[in-house]
Amino acid sequence: MSLTPRVLMVAGASRPDDRLSRVMARVGQSVVAAGGVAVELPLWAIDLPLMQADDASQAQLPAVARVRAEAAQADAFVIGTPEYHGNMSGALKNWFDFLYGELAGKLAAVVATTGGGSGDLSITGVKRTFAWCHGFTLPFHCAANRAAFVDGELRDARVLDRLDRIGHDVVRYARVLRPAFEAARGELGVAGGVAGLHPKVKP
Ligand SMILES: Cc1cc2nc3c(=O)[nH]c(=O)nc-3n(C[C@H](O)[C@H](O)[C@H](O)COP(=O)(O)O)c2cc1C
Repeated sequence: MSLTPRVLMVAGASRPDDRLSRVMARVGQSVVAAGGVAVELPLWAIDLPLMQADDASQAQLPAVARVRAEAAQADAFVIGTPEYHGNMSGALKNWFDFLYGELAGKLAAVVATTGGGSGDLSITGVKRTFAWCHGFTLPFHCAANRAAFVDGELRDARVLDRLDRIGHDVVRYARVLRPAFEAARGELGVAGGVAGLHPKVKP
């Protein structure tokens, strides 16, 4: 990996979502300021079918091939979700269900928008799912509720500060984590740890 991590910015809403877009844009600016490349992936712009575990033909669909290729090419992720019923959105969970090895050994930061809740439940849901795909998540996250916006713009100083820190951290720690995981693939037997269980996924 170069010193310019490629960060996939996954906006996990099924419809165009201005508030989530503003949150993702703010973290994206911070990713770029920290020396990373921010690649946008708004799920509402992708015609991703509902994942069918026994339907291998889905792999041929352009939308499925695209999300797998973009995840495989990414060095790290910023994953954003609207909080729905105390969890991540269905659109985001469906995106996860098409992936596994593409996420292994990589880093994700998690952000959320909420109606009024703290976002803890959707954020921990995303972190748990990312971990179950053998990825690592930042021990720091951010939720923006409706009160954080004034006239549609994100104004809450604490939220803005956290989003800016997250962008820097995802780039900083991706530079450390990604090479460590790739190097571990070359270790023999148990010395390879979890990396030894994962063949490299082709972008
Ligand atoms: C099906 C559904 C479930 C929701 N559940 C929650 C929830 O559990 N907690 C919460 O704070 N907001 C909840 N919301 C509000 C969304 O988080 C909010 O609509 C989303 O973050 C986008 O914000 P906006 O509607 O102001 O654009 C829910 C919204 C929907 C449509």
